[in-house]
Amino acid sequence: MSESLVDISLTINETEYRVSVEPRYTLADVIRHQCGLTGTHLGCEHGVCGTCNVLVDGEPVRACLMFAIQAQGAKIRTVEGLSQGDTLHALQQAFMDHHALQCGFCTPGFLMLLTGALETNPDLTDAELRDVLSSNLCRCTGYQNIILAARAGADRMKQLTSPMPETATLRPADA
Ligand code: FES
Ligand code: FES
Repeated sequence: MSESLVDISLTINETEYRVSVEPRYTLADVIRHQCGLTGTHLGCEHGVCGTCNVLVDGEPVRACLMFAIQAQGAKIRTVEGLSQGDTLHALQQAFMDHHALQCGFCTPGFLMLLTGALETNPDLTDAELRDVLSSNLCRCTGYQNIILAARAGADRMKQLTSPMPETATLRPADA
């Protein structure tokens, strides 16, 4: 083993990955090349586009700006962890339904950005959603459909997490 390699353990989508990395390796590169999770994409590689967003302890993070060794002990989530088997996450479904992608290269970053933002605050207004989305770049779609999908996905996420309305308690009839 090269002396410059460090053994680390990363928890990604609830699975532990033990990898040997150089301290200079970014989280994005390790997720893609050593953990094999290539859904996380790289665009600008300097923190501008948001294509590489993953969740680190629930917060959207530019994985191209974080060293993998800094992510030890954290819960990392990538786009591969969004769906439940064949069932797409509400945001993934909304992106499909509203044609919010063309090449799809930016999509994992948008999905992880929105997932983090909406899990933190399920009540984002349209203006707040636009503000969140402004941190990511898409070179294809012109954004309007991304905004529509974000709204639809947010509303669906909220529905899915809302408690069921209380049912009336049935009481035995009075004697
Ligand atoms: S690739 Fe990380 S922000 Fe662009
Ligand atoms: S869909 Fe192509 S870059 Fe966004």
